[in-house]
Amino acid sequence: MTVFTEQTRTRAREIIARYPVDRSRSALLPLLHLVQAEEGYVSPAGVAFCAEVLGLNKAQVGAVASFYTMYKRRPTGDWLVSVCTNTMCNVLGGQEVYDTLAEHLGVGHDETTADGTITLEHAECLAACDYGPVMTVNYDFFDGVDPQAAVGVVDELRAGGRPTPSRGARLCTLKEMAVQLAGFADERDGAVADGVPGEPTLRGLRLAQQHGISAPGFDPNTPIRGGKPEDKPAPATPAKAAPSGSTAPDVPAPDRKSPQLRTAETRQPDAGTPAPDAPGTKVPVDGQPPAPDDARAAEAAGAAANKPASDAKPAGDDTGAQERNLREAESANGGQDSAHDKGAQQ
Ligand code: FES
Repeated sequence: MTVFTEQTRTRAREIIARYPVDRSRSALLPLLHLVQAEEGYVSPAGVAFCAEVLGLNKAQVGAVASFYTMYKRRPTGDWLVSVCTNTMCNVLGGQEVYDTLAEHLGVGHDETTADGTITLEHAECLAACDYGPVMTVNYDFFDGVDPQAAVGVVDELRAGGRPTPSRGARLCTLKEMAVQLAGFADERDGAVADGVPGEPTLRGLRLAQQHGISAPGFDPNTPIRGGKPEDKPAPATPAKAAPSGSTAPDVPAPDRKSPQLRTAETRQPDAGTPAPDAPGTKVPVDGQPPAPDDARAAEAAGAAANKPASDAKPAGDDTGAQERNLREAESANGGQDSAHDKGAQQ
């Protein structure tokens, strides 16, 4: 346990203090970032440290650390270069970018250069398809890269430079980033600067403005509605028992509960299996009855408007729903009935 500095221990106490005393294990995610900030990855010592300060066992900590890809289980370079090779980026040249970098750096997926500066990895969709092919350096974006541009970025990194990402804040090393993700401010100048939105991001908005389309009847200041006592969900219909002598399989009744009710039940743990750090306690629910009737009506209207595709036709090919939505949006924009009302009447 000597690998962690006194500053890390102080910060660990600070992180844990952010959570209620009987919910301290919720601090595990930022604590994992904290130990990664010190060692550059979540080492066995880091797992043991988190387990010790939270009163968990190492298997519990390891299960969380190995679930999320942002926690590295092996020593990682200062610069984690992730190249998206998912569908959209791939057809635009993402694989070529990755292959070029792999050859240039002499490493494969999840491998680090001999000088310890760069770790290369394939990445699945990085949620920037409209800028593809994209790569990230410690999760900061470089948009529309080609092999030559990607090589230029890694060469600058290896030379000690910090190339400017296409959007967002300045680059920081993996350890510096982990400190931020643990919840501590990065005081470097420009470390959290906002970038301007890119033109592809604004494309949909511009088209909507050009065609006079807006979300009908939406007031962004609309308060979130609470349920009323009379909004109690309808009792679930019990499943019909199979006729006597039937060979039909014993199929459970369909779950007719609303998404809200299911969410509330998920938050209410079984009293028979209390959380280790909160024996006998239950997660409080907000006391609001779930499942207002209009939520079920909207759900039914949505299901009716999205008929399942036949075996021969992939779902989503039918443009009827989109055209209908467009007509409704246009008519609503002219002061007509809202799309929601029409959808509910269907
Ligand atoms: S497919 Fe590359 S960002 Fe989505």
